[in-house]
Amino acid sequence: MSGIERLSKLVGPHDPSGLLAVVLAIPDHLRDALWRIESARLGSLEAPAAMVCGMGGSAIGGSLAAAALGDRLTKPLLTVRGYELPPWSPAGSAVLCSSYSGDTEETLACYSAAEALGAKRLVATTGGELAAAARRDGVPVIGLPAGMPPRAAVAYMFCAAAELAALAGAAVRINTEVDAAAAHLQARSETLADRALELADAVGDAVPVIYGADLTEPVAYRWKTQVNENGKLPAYASSLPEATHNEIAGWEGAQGRLACVLLEDSDQHPRERRRSQATGELIAPHASEVIRVEAEGETRTARILELVMLGDLLSLALAARHGIDPSPIEAIDALKERLGRPA
Ligand code: PA5
Repeated sequence: MSGIERLSKLVGPHDPSGLLAVVLAIPDHLRDALWRIESARLGSLEAPAAMVCGMGGSAIGGSLAAAALGDRLTKPLLTVRGYELPPWSPAGSAVLCSSYSGDTEETLACYSAAEALGAKRLVATTGGELAAAARRDGVPVIGLPAGMPPRAAVAYMFCAAAELAALAGAAVRINTEVDAAAAHLQARSETLADRALELADAVGDAVPVIYGADLTEPVAYRWKTQVNENGKLPAYASSLPEATHNEIAGWEGAQGRLACVLLEDSDQHPRERRRSQATGELIAPHASEVIRVEAEGETRTARILELVMLGDLLSLALAARHGIDPSPIEAIDALKERLGRPA
């Protein structure tokens, strides 16, 4: 049986909404995102800084794009998760307001804050209040396909953020790299499905603590949030080298309840790599498992997107192992309900 068949057999009975198929379609999402961005015929947003405003599944694309661009960034590309832009935001910044539903109050607040700043705005959404406001204000919109959980639109949000960087003159346009990454992910999907099953076995019932560094730092956070939302399970993310100056000491009290997952990159700083390896060795006696995962791919874009897809698949496998439907996120819905609409 192929990797995808085995993963489908595990996930299928718990996945009535078909989220697994949506994750496996990430390569198509990347190509479709490029097409939608091109069709939006966006003009230059030349600016001193670029900001992606969003929450949760609609914010991660900004962090991932900044990591994929790495030292090709010549100006700041910041992800803002909250109600306000940083007080130091340069006037005339390029601001992407990214909300899958278009109704996220923090993102709507940033949309207004960006106007007050005199920012050059761009919107990525399926609709909601954000689309209505953009239409009213003549702000360009990258239209996203409706019908998926916001976090499953990660490829679209990644491409929108990378495009913002290009439009702001903060980085080169990486469309060719994204297109090649889509082919790479397609070719690797069986392997990734196999690997996700292995990883789910290795994590088992432990709480994963996922470490990333540089390119893999936002991926570690993505893995954590996907395990939280899809698996309805606790998971934590942390970053190296910082964690080797504090968190590593806490593992002495872990008593085998936590699994350590180290996300590595073939092109990372040699000392970061050494630190990651040494961290795994030192943590091993206290962890249920130490799992090292290395991204493969020619470009930073291919490697980061491969790890994103692998983490998404892992979260579905973990959900299935616990008999959980990955799609509903009742806790998040309940919180939004409890808070009500802002005054
Ligand atoms: O995955 C999710 O559903 C959440 O993390 C949402 O992305 C988050 O609540 C923000 O909503 P939206 O993406 O619609 O702006």
